[in-house]
This record gives sequence, C-alpha cells and structure tokens, in this order.
Amino acid sequence: MSNSTNRIAAITGGASGIGLAFAELWVSQGGRVVLLDMNAEAISSSVENLGGEAKARGVVTDVTNNDSVVAAFESIRLNEEALHVGVNCAGIARPAPSSDVSDDDWMLLIDIHLSGTMRACRAAHGLMKAGGGGSIINISSVASQMGMPKRASYCAAKAGIDGLTRVLAVEWAPDNIRVNAVAPGYVQTAMTDILVAQGKLDLRPIIARTPMKRLAAPAEIASVIGFLASDAASYVTGHSLVTDGGMTVDGNWYP
Ligand SMILES: NC(=O)c1ccc[n+]([C@@H]2O[C@H](COP(=O)([O-])OP(=O)(O)OC[C@H]3O[C@@H](n4cnc5c(N)ncnc54)[C@H](O)[C@@H]3O)[C@@H](O)[C@H]2O)c1
Repeated sequence: MSNSTNRIAAITGGASGIGLAFAELWVSQGGRVVLLDMNAEAISSSVENLGGEAKARGVVTDVTNNDSVVAAFESIRLNEEALHVGVNCAGIARPAPSSDVSDDDWMLLIDIHLSGTMRACRAAHGLMKAGGGGSIINISSVASQMGMPKRASYCAAKAGIDGLTRVLAVEWAPDNIRVNAVAPGYVQTAMTDILVAQGKLDLRPIIARTPMKRLAAPAEIASVIGFLASDAASYVTGHSLVTDGGMTVDGNWYP
C-alpha cells in the first residue's frame, strides 16, 4: 500500500497546471482528490480525465472568498469524511511596474496567493486534526527569494507564503500536521504560456540562466509535492523546498 492509497487530497487551483499534475500523481497512486478551483469548466474536464467521481470530485471555489473556502472544506467533511493532504496551488500572475501597479491588482495578487493560502490552510486544519494529522504543501516560488522586476505583489506574496508556512508548521506540529512549501522555478503551465502569448515573458533568458537549461514539467513539481505529502518526509516541516533546475544557486559568472 502506498502512502496515498485511499487518502484524500484537497488541491486549490487543482484544475490546471501544477495542481492538476499532483492530482494525476495522487490518483495514479490510489488516492482520491478534491479539486477546489474557480474554473468550473476546467474542473469538469479534469475530474473526467482523472477517472470520474470514483477518483475525483470538484468544488467550484474562490480562495479570495472565505465563505467559499469554508463551504468547500465542509463539503469534504460531509462527502469524503477525511482529509489527509492539502495542496495550495491557486494563483495568477499579472506583471506590472511597481510605480504604476493599481491598488486593486496589488490586493488581488496578495489576496489569491497569500490570504487564499491562509484561508485554505485554516479550513483544512480542523479536518486534519480531527483525523489525527496530515500534510499541507503550499506553492511558493523562487520569486519568494529573488527581486523580480514588475512582480512586486507576486514576490511579496510568495515570501509571505514561506513565512506563513514556517509559522503554521510550528503551531500545528502538536496536531501532527506538517506544513511545507515547494518553491518552483519556471514551470511549463498555462500561467507561463499566457504570459509568453501576452509578450510579458521571454523564456530565452530564463532558460539561459537556469543551469539545467530548461523549464520544469508540471509532473516534476508534482513529484516533489508528493514527497512532502508522503511518510518519506515524516520529519520535514516548515521547509520551503526550492525546485528550480539550479536557478537560485547559480554562481557561474566565470568565462
Ligand atoms: N508556472 C510557473 O512557472 C510557476 C512557478 C512558480 C510558482 N508557480 C505557482 O504555482 C501555482 C500554480 O500555478 P500553475 O503554473 O499551475 O498555473 P495555472 O494557471 O495552470 O493554474 C492555476 C489555477 O489556479 C486557479 N485559480 C486562480 N485564481 C483562483 C481563485 N481565486 N480561487 C481558486 N482557484 C483559482 C486557476 O483557475 C487555475 O486552475 C501558483 O501559485 C503559481 O504562482 C508557478
């Protein structure tokens, strides 16, 4: 029996990209997933592709709305009757020069990434505690550690997620709940594809300054989430695991 057999994982932003790749991994290992995403259409097709209601369920959820998040986790209490793993992937990217960024855009990015992660963690806590414990994995980014121009709200939110992860790890260790983060470099998902299509992202310099000379596939981030979710990481908590093909450790400035 693997770590995931018959275990329930709730995934915000689970209808696309990294969240969906983790859902595929979890289901392939015998687990069940609940996709919490604001995109109803993407939820329907993803649930079908994952094997239908026997393997997956979707709840249209907006992580910026606390009532919506609380209702989603209440539906897990009623339907799945347990929660073992929570993965917080919901996110958007909206690059803008800091001098021009509107208050609405600033608040939206912070609300989705940082406050949305907090809302989902808080809602997961009671269910996990009642079941004897669990593992939460928040999706941070290398942006939590680097000053990326035109991404002030994104970088600030991701740094906030790392801080939140450390605090919750300490507060909830007595409840047998581990809280960790994964900090990916650039990943080939809709988020990057859309920015490239909008002319807001040029992948060539990013690939050039990544020692592994490529982006990550979503499955390569999902497998790291899977490690942190599993008993193989039973003594790991409060950690943000950088998964970036060497981007942030690159000290190769020499000809
Ligand atoms: N793609 C990358 O290069 C990259 C790198 C580092 C970190 N990340 C982070 O990984 C996470 C997942 O991103 P992805 O690349 O898989 O993107 P994606 O666009 O493929 O998936 C994001 C999902 O979040 C959902 N979502 C957006 N706003 C929401 C809301 N308010 N409530 C609920 N769901 C919402 C979307 O509907 C979508 O399904 C994000 O937090 C992102 O910041 C991505």
